[in-house]
Amino acid sequence: MKIFKDINKWKKYKNTLPADLKIGLVPTMGALHEGHLSLIRKSISENQLTVVTIFLNPTQFNNPEDLEKYPQTWSEDVDILKGIGADILLAPTFEQLYPDDYQYKITENSLSKLLCGTSRPGHFDGVLTIVMKLLNIVKADKAYFGEKDYQQLQLVKKMCKTFFIDTAIVECPIIREHDSLAMSSRNRRLSNEGRKLASEYVKLVRQNKEIEVIKEELSKKGIKVDYLEDRFERRFVAVVIDNIRLIDNFKLNI
Ligand code: PAF
Repeated sequence: MKIFKDINKWKKYKNTLPADLKIGLVPTMGALHEGHLSLIRKSISENQLTVVTIFLNPTQFNNPEDLEKYPQTWSEDVDILKGIGADILLAPTFEQLYPDDYQYKITENSLSKLLCGTSRPGHFDGVLTIVMKLLNIVKADKAYFGEKDYQQLQLVKKMCKTFFIDTAIVECPIIREHDSLAMSSRNRRLSNEGRKLASEYVKLVRQNKEIEVIKEELSKKGIKVDYLEDRFERRFVAVVIDNIRLIDNFKLNI
């Protein structure tokens, strides 16, 4: 696996590759888990070259403590990527990715204001801006995103359509732990007690009950609910356990 920390070196290398080589992009913020690996495996199976990016993107964190505590596991991640057969790891610095110091950004004014957008102002501006940059730098044929961040996935798809980006966005299913907790880099920050509560929260939100009743049951367990909403024939949830924000969504049987 080749590692590039310098965008220009990656671009130079890319220019040496055959123009028709099929490239897959898997953008990540590191702290890789099975969810990421499922995207990378899919990319490897569908492309001739798989580029994984690791960049802990500060502009999408509205809460400085969340950014500070976000797990960073660089050497483990590198080993995992080598083991799985990724071809390229691209990990540029903030200075390289934001030469304008974030004076330019992409804002969506509708879907991004709902759900996670309500309690995380600016979050999706940061996400869309970095994804646009990575799409432009890698110029992949396909880019892989998980359904766990369903709102992000829809926003990225619409952004690509809006700005005539040629990369196809591939939607990948949520990978879950044995108790159905959606895999997330933040899960590893949960205490033992918090992990047990997370297991309970997953069961509670899947009940076929009134949303308000479920919210009450969650609060009784000491689980803070950011939102629990049925929209677009799916149930969306964000809760806070151990001061860690966990999100999930699933299709409703209607
Ligand atoms: O889903 C994520 O991990 C991030 O939002 C992404 C797409 C890598 C952008 O920083």
